[in-house]
Amino acid sequence: MAEALSDEVQAGPSRESAMEGDSVGWGIVGYGWVARDYMAPGIRAAGHRLVAVADPGEASRSAAEAEGARAHADIAGLIAEPEVEAVYVATPNHLHRAAVEALAASGKAILCEKPMAASLRDAEAMAASVTRAGIFYGTAFDQRHHPAHRAMRDCIREGRLGTVTAVRIVYACWLDRGWASFQGQDNWRIDPQQAGGGALIDLAPHGLDLCDFLLDESIEDIASLTQARAQDYAVDDGALLIGRTGSGVLANLHVAYNCPDVLPRRRLEVVGTTGMLTAVDTMGQTPGGRLTFTDGTSGGSENIAFDVEASPFLEQVRAFGSALRRPEERAAYSAERDLHTMRLLARAYGEALAPAA
Ligand SMILES: NC(=O)c1ccc[n+]([C@@H]2O[C@H](COP(=O)([O-])OP(=O)(O)OC[C@H]3O[C@@H](n4cnc5c(N)ncnc54)[C@H](O)[C@@H]3O)[C@@H](O)[C@H]2O)c1
Repeated sequence: MAEALSDEVQAGPSRESAMEGDSVGWGIVGYGWVARDYMAPGIRAAGHRLVAVADPGEASRSAAEAEGARAHADIAGLIAEPEVEAVYVATPNHLHRAAVEALAASGKAILCEKPMAASLRDAEAMAASVTRAGIFYGTAFDQRHHPAHRAMRDCIREGRLGTVTAVRIVYACWLDRGWASFQGQDNWRIDPQQAGGGALIDLAPHGLDLCDFLLDESIEDIASLTQARAQDYAVDDGALLIGRTGSGVLANLHVAYNCPDVLPRRRLEVVGTTGMLTAVDTMGQTPGGRLTFTDGTSGGSENIAFDVEASPFLEQVRAFGSALRRPEERAAYSAERDLHTMRLLARAYGEALAPAA
């Protein structure tokens, strides 16, 4: 991590200061690629504190300690940390359930990575556990927080597209058998038991949730075709999904692990009767990209401005921290809505999501 640690983190904040103000004390369960490269920098940039991590991997724990966090091999050690108010869960998918259940019982707030779980059964158990415990839970749909996607939602709400008719998404990348974010890290994404599926379960949740975010309504009907075409592993390396919202907006998503990263592969379009929004290279973990509005009468296009510096992870940390302090903002999060997204994924796989071991 390149960024310098704040003085407060290096000194180790007191219990009292940890609970005060807008600076949230975070824990992370699973300090791998996304936690290290995107969430931890987001926590720092938001002025929050990464207090502790839990990870059985020695390299991951060393990396966290180098960032000034305390590192535990087991989640119990992290739960015992009073300064940890909110916990980001970023383990392989099949381990989300155990972490969320333990954290819910401890009373800590939880931001759990997508997909919610590797199986619908696990996701249902997780939703039940956070409801039972009455804790603040959110699934980490960072794409809701990309400034370009927020600007798109504003345009749609202002009526610039007229009657919205369709959402079209391409979200693809290259993930071969040998892919690893860090040397020696397992490629759990190609193991059906650990991941719950392939490109579909990994990448489609973002698009399905974005439809909900942009349109203020869920996809209700869904169908899909998957392929295992270019890679040599057991899970799907590509999928096409078609969906329809309750009011009749159509959505299509092409997700893939078999698309070279240098090809155009991240595109989000929302089409309406009076115009169209096109976002290019906004889907993903990084800030920036381009957003244009095309007028449905003249055909002319204009760029729509948004904050190109703020990453979706930074904005996600800010939003979750703000809702932690202000319970009235928690309506933006819903385990029930996220469970609906899991049900769509299960239906897209033909009810065949692998049960967790
Ligand atoms: N929102 C996004 O853009 C995005 C991007 C990447 C990954 N993700 C999600 O984040 C999660 C992690 O993905 P990743 O790519 O960072 O994986 P990764 O393999 O790089 O990291 C996973 C980490 O979890 C640790 N771990 C394994 N078992 C554990 C346990 N029992 N308790 C605690 N830690 C444990 C591993 O040692 C490793 O450090 C997945 O659910 C993935 O779908 C989301």
